[in-house]
Amino acid sequence: MINNHDRVVTRGLRDVAAAETKISFVDPMGTLYYLGYNIDDLVEHVCSEEVVYLLLYSKLPTKNELGEFRAQLISEMTLPEAVIECIKSAPKSSHPMEVLRTAVSHLSMYDSDRDYKSEQANKKRAIRLVAKVPTIVATLHRIRTNQQLVAPNEEFSFPENFLYLFRGKPADSEEKNVIDRYMTLHADHGFNASTFAARVTASTNADMYSAVTSAIGTLKGPLHGGASEKVMYMLDDINTEEEVEAYIQGMLDNKRKIMGFGHRIYQTEDPRTKHLREMAENLCCLTDNLNLYNLCIRIENVVHEKKNIFPNVDFYAAVTLNALGVPFEFFTPFFASSRIAGWTAHVIEQYEDAVLLRPSSMYVGRYGRPFVPIEKRKAADNL
Ligand code: CMC
Repeated sequence: MINNHDRVVTRGLRDVAAAETKISFVDPMGTLYYLGYNIDDLVEHVCSEEVVYLLLYSKLPTKNELGEFRAQLISEMTLPEAVIECIKSAPKSSHPMEVLRTAVSHLSMYDSDRDYKSEQANKKRAIRLVAKVPTIVATLHRIRTNQQLVAPNEEFSFPENFLYLFRGKPADSEEKNVIDRYMTLHADHGFNASTFAARVTASTNADMYSAVTSAIGTLKGPLHGGASEKVMYMLDDINTEEEVEAYIQGMLDNKRKIMGFGHRIYQTEDPRTKHLREMAENLCCLTDNLNLYNLCIRIENVVHEKKNIFPNVDFYAAVTLNALGVPFEFFTPFFASSRIAGWTAHVIEQYEDAVLLRPSSMYVGRYGRPFVPIEKRKAADNL
């Protein structure tokens, strides 16, 4: 028998490099790069469609390429009727992330090219998913609120169309800027849990829809993308800045995590936070809701004083989406609608790497238990 105690368990796979990637680098000292470009430069100078193009083609597009790419994305924003029916059939009590997970899975059955697995076919499929995931999210919201479905408008950019399909009205210039930057900031982030889940699924040579379905299920958890929704419930619970200290202390005393804080990789502030904080401040100012923003700053200071941790991407993203009129339970679907770009890029990279991701484990269970036939088994035997 192999002595498996010679193995070392790296709990939570902390610091384990599971594969090589050229897509993004999360520098623990607080910088994020997509294909070598600093996220600070991207968010200031390029639109989110350029970022999607960058993730899928490893280069920024020319003006012509961007125009064609945008048109392709917008033309792919429609859904097969059967997928709309699938969304309609979801019980009202289901979480939007459950519906999204199911609808993406459903979408795979309406991909007429699904048996083609060339790089070109996968890029086409990636664009299809990047375009259709936001439409699924918007369609669900329209159905849930008994509103008419809205068709994409070719005059609008892709992120603008997402907001348009979701809310049914064109975004103003500040909102356009916010949704564009939000999508850039959420597009990729190294080997985060959902991307890793997508890559594990892709590593078995399963199709891209299966990989994305795994990713959606993984993003849903509150330790990952599900945190943004929980942030808003916390903000709803705290009425004034004066209550913050006692509320946070109470959470920490009860060993509860403060949602939207802490990070596995960053030892300093998440580089996306400063952009989202600024967006949240502007929107709160415009919507006459500066009290909420000030409450966030107070929470940030108290959590830092007490635990020496910083807000992550989910904290101010929650406030930003709230100011855009997105209901809390749709925060994680908005995250998924942006991260789909990174997921599909990683799936393609994983196919190129062509290696099965399959770790080992350290068995710590028992050996040599005496076998008892069912007729002679007593409840106590199974303890
Ligand atoms: N609230 C309170 N304490 C925290 C938090 C938090 N949010 N995050 C970390 N800590 C403490 C933790 O209790 C531990 O303290 P001590 O050493 O005293 O026991 C220390 O910081 C190290 O934490 P950890 O749990 O070992 O860190 P991790 O790398 O395993 O977890 C995390 C990272 C993101 C899961 C965790 O910070 C967390 O649960 N945060 C809240 C959920 C959240 O905001 N998730 C979003 C993550 S980032 C974006 C995304 O993926 O969506």
